Amino acid sequence: MNDLKWWQKTNVYQVYPKSFLDTTGSGMGDLNGVTEKLDYLNTLGVGAVWLTPVYPSPMVDNGYDIADFTGIDPSYGTMADMERLIAEGKRRGIRMVMDLVYNHSSDKHPWFIDSKSSRDSEHSDWYIWRDAKPDGSAPTNWRSIFGGSAWTWCEARQQYYLHTFAEAQPDLNWENPQVRQALYDAANFWLDKGVGGFRIDAIVYIKKPAEFVDGEPDSDDGMVNIHSMIANTPGILDFLHEFKEKVFQGHDIFTVAEANGIEPEDLDKWVGEKGVFDMLFEFSHMNLEFPHGELWSQATGYSPAIIPRLKQVLSASQFATAQNGWYPIFFENHDQMRCVNHYFPFTADRILAAKAVAVMLMTLRGTPFIYEGQELGLANVAWGSIENYNDISSHGQYDLALAEGKTPAEALDIVHRYSRDNARTPMQWTRGKNAGFTTGTPWLPVHEDFRQQCVETEALDEDSVLSFYRRMARLRLYGEAAGVLQQGDYTELLPEHPSIMAFKRRFGCRSVYTLINFTDRAEFYDLPELTGAKLLAETIPDSAHGSLRPWESVIYIKETGEAI
Ligand code: NOJ
Repeated sequence: MNDLKWWQKTNVYQVYPKSFLDTTGSGMGDLNGVTEKLDYLNTLGVGAVWLTPVYPSPMVDNGYDIADFTGIDPSYGTMADMERLIAEGKRRGIRMVMDLVYNHSSDKHPWFIDSKSSRDSEHSDWYIWRDAKPDGSAPTNWRSIFGGSAWTWCEARQQYYLHTFAEAQPDLNWENPQVRQALYDAANFWLDKGVGGFRIDAIVYIKKPAEFVDGEPDSDDGMVNIHSMIANTPGILDFLHEFKEKVFQGHDIFTVAEANGIEPEDLDKWVGEKGVFDMLFEFSHMNLEFPHGELWSQATGYSPAIIPRLKQVLSASQFATAQNGWYPIFFENHDQMRCVNHYFPFTADRILAAKAVAVMLMTLRGTPFIYEGQELGLANVAWGSIENYNDISSHGQYDLALAEGKTPAEALDIVHRYSRDNARTPMQWTRGKNAGFTTGTPWLPVHEDFRQQCVETEALDEDSVLSFYRRMARLRLYGEAAGVLQQGDYTELLPEHPSIMAFKRRFGCRSVYTLINFTDRAEFYDLPELTGAKLLAETIPDSAHGSLRPWESVIYIKETGEAI
């Protein structure tokens, strides 16, 4: 396994610090909480922790609105706490990965405060300013990703500024070399602190088109999603190569960029030797319910028809990354619903569903990313009113759904399914008060199922989701299948089967087979090459070749006798 880099042969764990562990009683998680749980992360084979933003922030978008790119928000602790976390992580073989949010800053960042003060200020063109249309309205009809116009008026400058996301997240002007240098300096600051890599936020938006024009409206509000107007504008790669050269190059770190909408044929320009990043988070398997864009009100909801699509897009990503770069395998993050609700109906056995995702995660080719709570099988929440929701995009999408003619109850149902708060409820550590997350009042309610689904309960139960994740992590990283799972190639099996996902990984003289049944029926398959294969893992005792019981998953290994 010597050809692989450290981050290709480990698991990454994503921590949403605000919801991980509170050590002060504030109701919000903090850095010392992460340090306290490093030994727990070791039990999941974790070699890197992606921390969503912990920088000073007014928290309009929970830290993705940054007021200082090289500081720590006091609610999370101090720079000394961060340094201790990095050092304690290193002692255990766990490196910290920082989130670089470089498309925008907070409107409270000193750069923006100066920029908006006048057209002659020092930072005047550090953001994207435009005059109003002759009738005083916004320069274009672009809708921000969180809903509402992507432009906000500034009295002092008598101009509008652009924000791809919330009004409080003005877009930085990457055309200005001083802006780019300031951002690179901030990233290098974290490299000097010893971090192990970067997750790069919303990177596809940094380059704006030369001319700003109205788009064809995609909804009754007369606006068009800004994504379709500015994402992946030609020229973006020039910026990104400069970024690589001035920051990433030559360091023993990994980079993974959030890049919605990069086509497989363009992958070589983005990842790998000739590209910019080591990995890209692409969302084809997350957007299965969004064939018409990103409006939640237009999503299709779950149906078994998404399973053939899931198979198809995962295979396509596996093939694409076999040629170029490396794949970050993920089925959850802080912006998505919980995976047990995503790929399975409400009637599914939740424990088997969670284990099925663990099987996919740990046997596909790439680096597995576990999102906090996924290893416990946590599920979505459904709160009684939109007022209970903290997530800014839930409010925007709720209003849009009402504007599209949905009733309040229908709009709330949509929020129940897609709200980002589904993944942001506090981590469930114990059966005690607030699931052991805080002694204070949690900033977001703890899921009501915490007594069954928590580390304390699950660690004692051999059949729990957590125990299964721990076994799967060992399978992936050590033992007879590890070489195949980390280095082996990927072949899709049973491509036409509507309900079974099946694939083979192969390396040297060994093959590992994964089979997952996504339905509530027994399903049958014919795979003669499985003859002689040995069972490595099963989610229901006494599995048998040729059939899978409802929601069942199995993994087999086979010696082929000849090295291929
Ligand atoms: C993507 C992040 O994952 C999300 O949480 C955030 O709201 C937006 N980018 C804006 O930074």
